[in-house]
Amino acid sequence: MSLLTILRYPDPRLHKIAKPVTVFDERLKKLVADMADTMYDAPGVGLAATQVDVHEQIIVIDTSDTHDQLLVLINPVILWSSPERQLYEEGCLSVPGIYDGVERAAQVRVKAKDALGKSFEFEADGLLAVCVQHEMDHLLGKVFVEYLSPLKRNRIKSRMQKEERELKREREAQPAFR
Ligand code: NI
Repeated sequence: MSLLTILRYPDPRLHKIAKPVTVFDERLKKLVADMADTMYDAPGVGLAATQVDVHEQIIVIDTSDTHDQLLVLINPVILWSSPERQLYEEGCLSVPGIYDGVERAAQVRVKAKDALGKSFEFEADGLLAVCVQHEMDHLLGKVFVEYLSPLKRNRIKSRMQKEERELKREREAQPAFR
């Protein structure tokens, strides 16, 4: 098990566009497993490869209460979105401690491949629909705070930058282990 480092907003690498996966090999399986470990450890309900600085269309999601329903989405495509919308209080592992309401399609139909390259389709509503759309945004370089007003977004950006400076100071103050 390896935990991956999660990029924090406003890291510019969070705005890179992910490329489709073309090779379904051991490296992909290991990456998916590490992403799942990183998501469960955080803990979070979803993680996109973009957030661990891998710019490929890979998402892991688990919205179950039991944390044993891992959903792996490779090269996901939204086939249909409901005209009905839902407002949901979202958070993001790349923007820790920040939660705010975002409106998205209430239901989506999604096509994706699993880690072995096998295609599948499913319909999602509720938290899963939110999560799929939120994570697919990451693959397009979009973080949920971009749906908020510029005022809120700038406030979040300053707060994140301040926390980042504090974290950096803490890291530098720690003695190195050998
Ligand atoms: Ni996120």
